[in-house]
Amino acid sequence: MPCNRPPFKSSAPAKIILLGEHAVVYGMPAIAAPIQSLRAYACAQPSDTPLSIRSLEFEKSVAIGSPASDDSLRPLQQLLQIASSYFGMRKPTGDLVIRSDIPVAGGLGSGAAVSAAAIRALAALFGRSVSNEDLNQLVFEMERIHHGTPSGIDNTVVVYERPVYFQRGKDLELLTVKRPCHIVIADTGRATMTREAVSRVRQRYEQRQSATEEVFVSIGQVASNARGALESGKLGQLGALMSENHRLLRQLGISSPELDELVDASIAAGAMGAKLSGGGMGGNMIALVDGSTVPAVRRALRQAGAARVVDFVLSLGPVYS
Ligand code: MEV
Repeated sequence: MPCNRPPFKSSAPAKIILLGEHAVVYGMPAIAAPIQSLRAYACAQPSDTPLSIRSLEFEKSVAIGSPASDDSLRPLQQLLQIASSYFGMRKPTGDLVIRSDIPVAGGLGSGAAVSAAAIRALAALFGRSVSNEDLNQLVFEMERIHHGTPSGIDNTVVVYERPVYFQRGKDLELLTVKRPCHIVIADTGRATMTREAVSRVRQRYEQRQSATEEVFVSIGQVASNARGALESGKLGQLGALMSENHRLLRQLGISSPELDELVDASIAAGAMGAKLSGGGMGGNMIALVDGSTVPAVRRALRQAGAARVVDFVLSLGPVYS
């Protein structure tokens, strides 16, 4: 939650899709989890000037209603507009600064995290509150601007900051993680826009509908089985399902040689399972590892050319049993 005196600060986590990306856009279930240690931050200060947003990464700023000097600023402006109109601010003033530790275009939900952190900081600036439900809807609107046809999983996991079992049009289900899962994340170093990956899968679907649908159904089945494995702490089984999910994602044509190499390297170093995570075609992969194997897998991923490797433990404080 943001603090209630200026500067109004807020943050939101990165996310990984543990299983089920792409098929989730077509109504299949998927599982995602927040990465609490990798976050986007927003800080809002009162001022007398029209509400503006400044990105520290891009070293750019823009004010609401003023012409944007380049296209990359438009989504940020839309963020200010969507939030101001939700909060009923007709002539909003203030300065919003955003910064993110989450790599952009890496499949880790940086856009959703920035939006969530920014809207929460603006709520505090305007002296309003926003429920998680409404925030989720607002971030989803932003996701539509970024990605075109998002399933809604990214905004959901980033807003609720809990592992989720997500299926379009169904009630949100928060997951209980039975045993802590050590996840190593490796970045191929190749930035890819989720929008591109989603449209590649769309093309495939339009060209070979029934074969592609079969892959979606298999991915949905894998995600559903993985839910049981996660909730009952069967990590070996969960790992095998992740690797099976990677195989199915390859069939959808959204893996890449770099992703396959990192997946293979992690398995050879002892990971229980591995797959690309997020949009694919580049971006990040994830490996499920036993705690003692983390250093070996990290090393192997570096040697296989990963541009960046991070690891975290997926457990869930309040519901962890
Ligand atoms: C992106 O993190 C996950 C995708 O399934 C797209 C979506 O669900 O909106 C590729």
